[in-house]
Amino acid sequence: MKQPAKEDQSHPLFRQVYEYMLNRMERGEWKAHDKLPSIRGLAEELKVHRLTVFKAYRELTDSGKVYVKDKSGYYVSPANLLREERTVEGAAVPAYSLTNPMSDIQRMPVTYQFSQALIDPGLLPNLFLSDYVKKVFDLYPKVMGTYSSVQGDDELRETLSEHFHKHYRLQLSPQELLITSGAQQAINLIAGLVLGPMDPVLVERPTYSVALDIFRRAGARLIPVEITPEGYDLEAVEALMRKFKPRMFYMNPTHHNPTGYTVPARQRKQLVELAEQYRCLLVEDDPFRDIYFGEAPPAPFFAYDTEGWVIYISSFSKYVAPGLRICAVACRHPFMERLITAKSLADNGSPLLNQKIFLHYYTSPRLQQHLGKLRIALQVHKEIMEEELASSGWEWTAPEGGLNLWVKLPDSVSASALFARSMEQSISFVPGELCDPLGEMKSRLRLSYSFASETLLREGMRRLMKLAREL
Ligand SMILES: Cc1ncc(COP(=O)(O)O)c(C=O)c1O
Repeated sequence: MKQPAKEDQSHPLFRQVYEYMLNRMERGEWKAHDKLPSIRGLAEELKVHRLTVFKAYRELTDSGKVYVKDKSGYYVSPANLLREERTVEGAAVPAYSLTNPMSDIQRMPVTYQFSQALIDPGLLPNLFLSDYVKKVFDLYPKVMGTYSSVQGDDELRETLSEHFHKHYRLQLSPQELLITSGAQQAINLIAGLVLGPMDPVLVERPTYSVALDIFRRAGARLIPVEITPEGYDLEAVEALMRKFKPRMFYMNPTHHNPTGYTVPARQRKQLVELAEQYRCLLVEDDPFRDIYFGEAPPAPFFAYDTEGWVIYISSFSKYVAPGLRICAVACRHPFMERLITAKSLADNGSPLLNQKIFLHYYTSPRLQQHLGKLRIALQVHKEIMEEELASSGWEWTAPEGGLNLWVKLPDSVSASALFARSMEQSISFVPGELCDPLGEMKSRLRLSYSFASETLLREGMRRLMKLAREL
């Protein structure tokens, strides 16, 4: 167990201990009527004063989470273990939830699909991919009879290291790449290595909600960093690094999900310097880099890093084939060795067949042709959504890439009421609060323009706005 952060006025230590205990109860480590550690035992484990633990237990008792049996100690209450809205003074918000509301929304079959930040399968190279499946079986007849190496297929890592060099200005060797099953697995592995209970982690506000859930499950404390069309306020980031000493900053700085914002080049270099200074890993999740409508975005943070403080995650789920689950993680020694061990324990390497199919498609000239067409198609989708929204009075910043509009509703419209009504009408979107580490942003929605066909996009948007007018 990690030592809790030192006392800080806005987030007193007993409160951190309270949240730590609550997290563990919510995770099912202690069930109803289980006996909890003694005050002395917990104080020793957490390296805090007994009085601090006593105060935390008193708070847990007062709020009905825990009950006391005379002389015998503290026990978990049978009720009240459900997730509650917990807001904490200051910036840190540890709150674990066993639910995954985003996945619940995505699972609902709907006609007008604006909640999935995925590309319409009709725009992806499905037919061509079948050619490569055949080619792979011809070239490697034993491909199904063997494991991939844990780190990933050698040929694929070599190709990707050249690709990253040519297209993204990254200097790295194949040994500095690991193939994972999607970016989500990469985030999960990194969180497992870096974050322990109550460790502070910087996250953008808003951000990719699944990453928030992964960090919450690790028991980490989420420290929000506002992201705007101009990027981050670096002075604020530095103040947070100084105050909380976070182990890592999870960022999606290029055509960001959900806002579409891109952090400008000048901030990238400065932030890498801050990361070095404060010894904070920058975890750069970059799945939308190649989905841009005008100019290509600035080079990744990884290109500015000479000391190994950036981990770069490049998923190909979005624009090649989400079903293949191919993602490359770039990082330096010695973190790479730790990551490979974590990957070997997770699944012993991603499926070789998928890596080979991907490799042969990726190195073909069809990829660039596909990307060129896809950019145009997505821009058309975005413009249709914007046209339909033009008379709504809703606000958004036109993104220069990515898959979503991050929309602000007028005060008169309640996003939760709109969400309930829209689901009844088979229209889905992502309520803004799911993307907010503070669980606020209730007047925001994420509308993905990438999945629905052009016809369904127009029709669905008209229906959605009619619903909003009727609320
Ligand atoms: C920012 C971000 N990172 C990661 C992912 C997940 O990617 P993958 O499908 O490669 O796991 C998504 C998917 O929406 C995303 O938006």
